[in-house]
Amino acid sequence: MVILETERLLLRHFYRFDDQAMNRVFGDAEVMRYGDGVQTEAWVRAWLQNCLEHDYPKWGFGPWAVVEKQRREVIGYCGLFYFPDVNGRPEIEIGYRLARAFWGKGYATEAVLAVRDYGFNVLCLPRLIAMIDPGNVASIRVAEKAGMHYEDEVMFEGYTHPDRVYVIARPGR
Ligand SMILES: CC(C)(COP(=O)(O)OP(=O)(O)OC[C@H]1O[C@@H](n2cnc3c(N)ncnc32)[C@H](O)[C@@H]1OP(=O)(O)O)[C@@H](O)C(=O)NCCC(=O)NCCS
Repeated sequence: MVILETERLLLRHFYRFDDQAMNRVFGDAEVMRYGDGVQTEAWVRAWLQNCLEHDYPKWGFGPWAVVEKQRREVIGYCGLFYFPDVNGRPEIEIGYRLARAFWGKGYATEAVLAVRDYGFNVLCLPRLIAMIDPGNVASIRVAEKAGMHYEDEVMFEGYTHPDRVYVIARPGR
């Protein structure tokens, strides 16, 4: 199911057959540098299964596959994630991760702008956040380009240092 279309990208539901494309994302140490590290193929299959059987039916959103229209290739994910407790309140995060071959082309910004607008205009969410490692300058730039600003830090269990919380409220709120 296609959720969004931008000039160069489609965002659609993931399917089980996206495992090879997502192995290229989750299996790359550079892509996973700010995250939980490289993941196995079994982990990727379970992640896809969770999208299909939990996130989409329960929330109506989740990580969506980012497809480069020209090559018809899945290049990563961009989507929305529910967090029940971020510094004591429930939040919805915009999350994104692209295969390294597709960095530096403006794709993350293009996808994030579309997901942000979908979150506000279609899902009527009051606000969106992005939780970002302070060293992840590319991701911070993407968040800033989407109009998000630094609000706070968050320290999750198992972290060695806090993430930064970037936020944007629905226009007019
Ligand atoms: C973060 C990520 C999604 C950015 O994807 P991208 O498609 O290359 O981003 P864009 O091309 O839209 O670039 C957005 C901005 O960041 C800047 N940028 C990109 N990489 C950068 C880097 N390594 N250092 C500094 N700035 C960088 C770009 O120049 C651009 O800003 P500008 O328009 O002012 O020049 C990509 O690097 C990625 O997947 N990283 C690994 C996963 C990850 O960290 N995800 C985020 C977790 S919070």
